[in-house]
Amino acid sequence: MTHHYQLTASEFPWEISEGKTIQAMGFNGSVPGPMLKAAKGDTMRVTVKNELKEPTVVHWHGIRLPASMDGTDHVQRLIQPGEEFVYEFVVPDAGTFWYHSHHNETRQMERGMYGALVVEENAGPTVDAERMLMIDDMKLEANQEFTNGNFLSRWIERHDGRQGETHLVNGRENDVIEMDAGQVERWRLVNASSARYFRLFLSGRNFQLIATDGGLIERPVELTELLLVPGERADILVGPFNEGETLLMEALPYNRVTMVKTGRDTYATIRVGAEKTSVYHMPEKMRTILPLAGRDAVINRKVRFGVDLSLQHVIDFTVNGRTHDEDEPVAPGELQVWEVWNSSRMDHPFHLHGFFFQVLEVNGNEPDYLSWKDTINLPPQSRAKIAWRPDNRVGRWMYHCHILEHHEAGMMGHFEVKEPGTEAKAHGSHQHH
Ligand code: C2O
Ligand code: CU
Ligand code: CU
Repeated sequence: MTHHYQLTASEFPWEISEGKTIQAMGFNGSVPGPMLKAAKGDTMRVTVKNELKEPTVVHWHGIRLPASMDGTDHVQRLIQPGEEFVYEFVVPDAGTFWYHSHHNETRQMERGMYGALVVEENAGPTVDAERMLMIDDMKLEANQEFTNGNFLSRWIERHDGRQGETHLVNGRENDVIEMDAGQVERWRLVNASSARYFRLFLSGRNFQLIATDGGLIERPVELTELLLVPGERADILVGPFNEGETLLMEALPYNRVTMVKTGRDTYATIRVGAEKTSVYHMPEKMRTILPLAGRDAVINRKVRFGVDLSLQHVIDFTVNGRTHDEDEPVAPGELQVWEVWNSSRMDHPFHLHGFFFQVLEVNGNEPDYLSWKDTINLPPQSRAKIAWRPDNRVGRWMYHCHILEHHEAGMMGHFEVKEPGTEAKAHGSHQHH
């Protein structure tokens, strides 16, 4: 089945709460843009029309699509004002995904150029209701404008990433989530913010993690808090709650070693209404995930995320010691075991385009459960060992820090999945590893 969608990028006024209107950038006049839906294996045909005054391009975060559809300036010409581009691809995996601008992101994404893309599965739990919650924050001045102040505040913003005190769920401040008592809901969470580390807390209630970036995990994991870094997704089961209860959806403080610290913030209020009967059912096992490699697999590439001293900018945000690194190509079918090392003293969310990986170890520790990921946090001075397998989707790909200001400053690596049987060379002339 083919789904036809039209996304028009433009600037428009957007009311984030009563009497508080911002000049947003977004798709089809709303923040977030429309939720796109499909079933596993369907085809999406999305026409993106650019009615902005500047170029843009749309990336489909987490979708294993052909390189030419990845929506970066490395695989296509930017969509100029007034132009259209048609993205067409199959969605091979069920899960919670999202689309967002991949050009001038620190401006376009901060102002709302993102939306959700859900690919439904027919496995997993039966739930009473499902909702999409896109988490964001904006840094606004008193007049609701997106200025970025003086030299010092711009410098801090480049260092920390842009973080603000306007907390949004689905483009709304102080959102109210109305839920019925006795119900179990599936919440699909996407962290669409520029830099905010969102440490979810639901008034101390337990919830169950059922899916990560790449869809369902094998069995639910019971939690009372969950860290979601920029770019990352999680599906959780919440409830059942009792009639008349009021709960808060909050973010607990997280110290990612920035200059400006974050506190404990409220994102939304959950109000529980009258009791309803539940159809909730959890299968014995939601999915089987086969391990790609053992913990002792031999590392065949090291990738270093660094904050290095620089003459020009005082500090540079680098990959392998360079900004916009050109990394070595990979061959289809060849298992990749990478050590992604964060040599800096602050956290960075690592994101790989177009492929899912499994985390084998972080600082020598095995994760508690198997999952498919495309975005993970790299704590300060940590080493994550990940495994992934390139397939025959040849072309240009990238990985980068999903703090948009760091990405913009050059904390990214490009690489090629080469044609089978060719000896493609990296474009750069350096060597590492
Ligand atoms: Cu959501 Cu290149 O990123
Ligand atoms: Cu991506
Ligand atoms: Cu970073």
